[in-house]
Amino acid sequence: ADTLGSAAAAQGRYFGAAVAAGHLGESAYTATLDREFTSVTPENEMKWDATEPTRGGFSFGAADQIVNHALGQGMKVRGHTLVWYTQLPSWVSGLGATDLRTAMNDHINGLVSHYRGKIHSWDVVNEAFQDGGSGARRGGPFQDKLGDGYIEEAFRTARAADPAAKLCYNDYNIDGVNAKSNAVYAMVKDFKARGVPIDCVGFQSHFNSASPVPSDYRANLQRFADLGVDVQITELDIEGSGTAQAGDYATVVRACLAVSRCAGLTVWGVTDKYSWRSGGTPLLFDANYNKKPAYDAVLTALGGT
Ligand code: G3I
Repeated sequence: ADTLGSAAAAQGRYFGAAVAAGHLGESAYTATLDREFTSVTPENEMKWDATEPTRGGFSFGAADQIVNHALGQGMKVRGHTLVWYTQLPSWVSGLGATDLRTAMNDHINGLVSHYRGKIHSWDVVNEAFQDGGSGARRGGPFQDKLGDGYIEEAFRTARAADPAAKLCYNDYNIDGVNAKSNAVYAMVKDFKARGVPIDCVGFQSHFNSASPVPSDYRANLQRFADLGVDVQITELDIEGSGTAQAGDYATVVRACLAVSRCAGLTVWGVTDKYSWRSGGTPLLFDANYNKKPAYDAVLTALGGT
C-alpha cells in the first residue's frame, strides 16, 4: 500500500482529513485528498451557524458539496458537529429552556435526517467538559439552560434519526488519563450502563509543545474501548517539523493500531497551507502538497511503503 488510505484499510481502519468546501476547486488540494484519504470531516460546514443560521432555515449547500464529493470518491464521511457550545447563530443563545430543548432536537433531526445513510459517525456533542482539574461540565447555552441531561437527550434524538450512524462524544485534552478524560469516562460508563445510545468517543488529538502526545495515550484509548465503545482519532494535528514531528505522528498511529476498537484516524486538514493553526505546520503535507517526514512516518507505521 502506498497511500495513507490504502495502508490504513489494510489494517481495517479509515484514514481521514478535515476538508473545507472552499478549497475543493483547487486541483492540488482535491487530487491529494482523493489520492490519500478514505474519510472526510467537514471542517466547519456542518456546524450550527452554517447549517441553521435562522430557526428552521436549514442550509446544506457547502456541506452537501463535501459529502457529494466524498461519496463520489468512495470515501466515508464523519459528521461534525450537532451540539456544541460555540459557532452557534445568535438566535440560539437567546432562547429560553423550553424553546432551546425543542431547537436542539429540531437541529439534530434536521441534520441527521438530511444525511441519513451517508454519515459513518456523528460527533453528536462536542467539547462539553471544562479543562483543568474540576471534571465539571463547560458552561454554554445547553448546559446552562438544560442541565446535564442535554447530552443524553441529544444522543437519543440522533439515534432515532439515523439508527445506522455511529454516535460519538468528541473532545480535546482527553487524549491521556487526566481529570477531564476521567469525567468523560464516567459519563460514557454511565451511558453504557443505562442504555443511552453512544457508540464512540472521538479524541481530537491537537498536540503541540504545551500539550504533547501523552505517554498513556494508548492506555487511555484502551480503557475507553473496554467500556464497549469504539474510539476514533478525530482531529489529529501535531505542531513542529522534521523527525520530532514524524516520531510523534508514528506514536499516535501505533497507539490506534494497538487498540482493536480504534476505528480510524482523521487529520485536521490536508495541507499546512490551510491549517487552523495559522503559521503552524502541523499536518502531513506542506503548503506545496509535498509529503513531509511526518507523512512517511505515518505511512510506515500503517505498514505501507
Ligand atoms: O466563514 C467565515 C467567513 O465568511 C468570514 O469571512 C471569515 C472571516 O474571519 O470567517 C469565516 O469563518 C471562520 C471559519 O473558521 C471558516 O474559515 C471563523 O471565523 C473561524 O472561527 C473558524 O475557525 C474554525 C474553528 O473550528 C471555529 O471554532 C476552524 O476553521 C476549525 O478548524 C476549528 O475546528 C475545531 C473543531 O471544530 C473542534 N475542535 C477544535 C478545532 C480547532 O479549533
